[in-house]
Amino acid sequence: MHRDFLPLICLLILFAAGCGGATSGENDQTTADDDAHDQDDDTTVEPTPSNAIDFPDDFLWGVSTSAFQTEGGNVNSDFTQWMLKVFHRDLCGEAADSYDLYETDANLAQDLGVNIYRIGIEWARIEPQKGKYDEAEIEHYRKVIEAVVGRGIKPMVTLHHFTNPQWVQDQGGWRNAETIASFVAYARLMAKSYGDLVDYWLTINEPIIYASGLCLMAGYPGGSINNFPCAAEVSTNMMFAHARAYHAIKEVDTTDADGDGESAIVSIAQAIVPGYPRRPDNAGDIESARMYDYFMNKMIFYTLTTGELDANGDGDTTDEGDGYYEELAGTLDFLGVNFYNSIKVLHVPLIFGPIAGIPCYPEANFICYPHGRPPYLHGDNGNPIEPEEFHKLLVDYADEFHLPIVITENGVATTDGYFRSWFIIEHLKAVRAALDDGVDVRGYMHWSLIDNFEWLMAYTMRFGLFHVDFPTSIRSWTEGGETYSAIVHAGGVSQELLDRYADAPPVSE
Ligand code: NOJ
Repeated sequence: MHRDFLPLICLLILFAAGCGGATSGENDQTTADDDAHDQDDDTTVEPTPSNAIDFPDDFLWGVSTSAFQTEGGNVNSDFTQWMLKVFHRDLCGEAADSYDLYETDANLAQDLGVNIYRIGIEWARIEPQKGKYDEAEIEHYRKVIEAVVGRGIKPMVTLHHFTNPQWVQDQGGWRNAETIASFVAYARLMAKSYGDLVDYWLTINEPIIYASGLCLMAGYPGGSINNFPCAAEVSTNMMFAHARAYHAIKEVDTTDADGDGESAIVSIAQAIVPGYPRRPDNAGDIESARMYDYFMNKMIFYTLTTGELDANGDGDTTDEGDGYYEELAGTLDFLGVNFYNSIKVLHVPLIFGPIAGIPCYPEANFICYPHGRPPYLHGDNGNPIEPEEFHKLLVDYADEFHLPIVITENGVATTDGYFRSWFIIEHLKAVRAALDDGVDVRGYMHWSLIDNFEWLMAYTMRFGLFHVDFPTSIRSWTEGGETYSAIVHAGGVSQELLDRYADAPPVSE
C-alpha cells in the first residue's frame, strides 16, 4: 500500500481498532535459523519454584492467531479481491506462510508451553464457490488441527475473522440475510469435520468491529460510510448467524475431544473498547460515549444472553423487528473478550445514528485534540495502553452477564521486548485482581503467537511473541516470548520477573 494513503484509510476505519501511524525500530532478538523451535533450548526460561502471582491450576494459558493474517495466498477471499481492486496489489501476499508452516507454528506454541491455541479457518478456502466444498482444504485444516492436538494443546477454532469468500460478497455480503444460512451450513460442516478434535469454537470474531468498520468507515470490502442502519443490519444478521451456528455446532459436535466432560463450548470473540466522554463535562460527549459503549461493546452480549434484540441498535428493544427471539437467548457459553484499550468519544453531530460521535483514535487527533494531545503510553499504532481498564471491565462484564470469561485476545503493537513483557505482566496482574474479586476468568490468550498481517496496516505493526522475517518467513524468539513462556511454564509470575519489569515504559506523543 502507498504509505501516503494510510492516514486516509485509517480515518475510514476509526471504528475498527487497529490503525496507527508510527512504525518503530527493530530491537527484537532474532536468529538466522528457519525454525525457532530447533534452537530454543537455551532460550526458554526455566520455571521458578514459587510465584509472586499465581493462577488456578486449570487456567487456560494461550496464544491467539487468525487464518487470513498468518496463512497468505487466500485468493478466493473478498479481502484479497478488494485489495487488488483498491490498492492494485495484494497487501497480504504470503503473510507468515502459516498455510505451509503450521507444524512450525504448533512447535512454537508448544515451546511457549501454552495449553490452548486459537487458530482460524478461512471460509473462502473451504467453500470457494457457493455450495461447493473443497475436500482437500477440509483435509488441510484437519492436519492443522491435528498438529495442535498432537502436541497436547487444545485448539480454539474461529470460523469467521473479518473475511468472506468472494461469492458471499457477490450475493450482498452480510447485509443479505441469505448469508446467515450460508454461514451456518459452513459452521455445521466444520463442527462435523473436526468435532472429534475440537471443543472450543468461536463462530465470529469481533462482529461489531466488522459491522461498524464495514458500514461506517468502508474499512472492509463492500462497505459504506456513515451508514448506521447498515451497521445495525449487519450486526443483527451476524447475531442470528452466530446463534444458529451455535445450535448447529452443539447438535453436531458431541465428542468430548479433551476428556473434560464438555464436547462443544461455543462463543464469539467480542472487542471490548470501553468508551469515555472526550470532554467529561460535555453532555454531547457523555451521551455519545454511553451509546458507543452500548452499541460497540455490550449490545451483542445483551442479545445473545437474554434473547432481546435491538435490531436498529438505538438502545431499546421496542421497535419493529425488536423483541424476544428464543433462538438467540443463551447462545454464549462464555464471554470471549478481546481487550486492547479504552477510547475517548467525541460528539460529532454529522455522524448519523445513535452514537453521533467518533472514537478518538490517533488518526482523529486533529479533531479530538485540536490543541495537541498530551503524551500518553501507547503501542506503535497509537492505541493507549491501560491495564487498569482491563481489571475494571472484567469485573463490570462479570457482574452484568454472569458468564465465565476467556480472554481471547490481548496484545500490543511493539518491537520493544521490555514493553511487551511489562504489558503482559501488567495485564496478568489485572486478571489476577479480577479473580480475587470473584470473577470467573478461565483463560488468557496473547495476541499473537507470531507477527502477522495487520489488515490495512499490513506489516508495519508487530504483535508477535515470535518475530517473523516476512521475506523468508523465519520465526525467532523475542524477549516478550521468553517472558510469556516463563510465566506459562511456571503458571504465574515470579518475583524476579515482577522486579525486572517493574517500571512502566515512557509515555510519548
Ligand atoms: C483484533 C483483531 O481480531 C485482530 O485481527 C487484530 O489483528 C488485532 N485486534 C490487533 O489489532
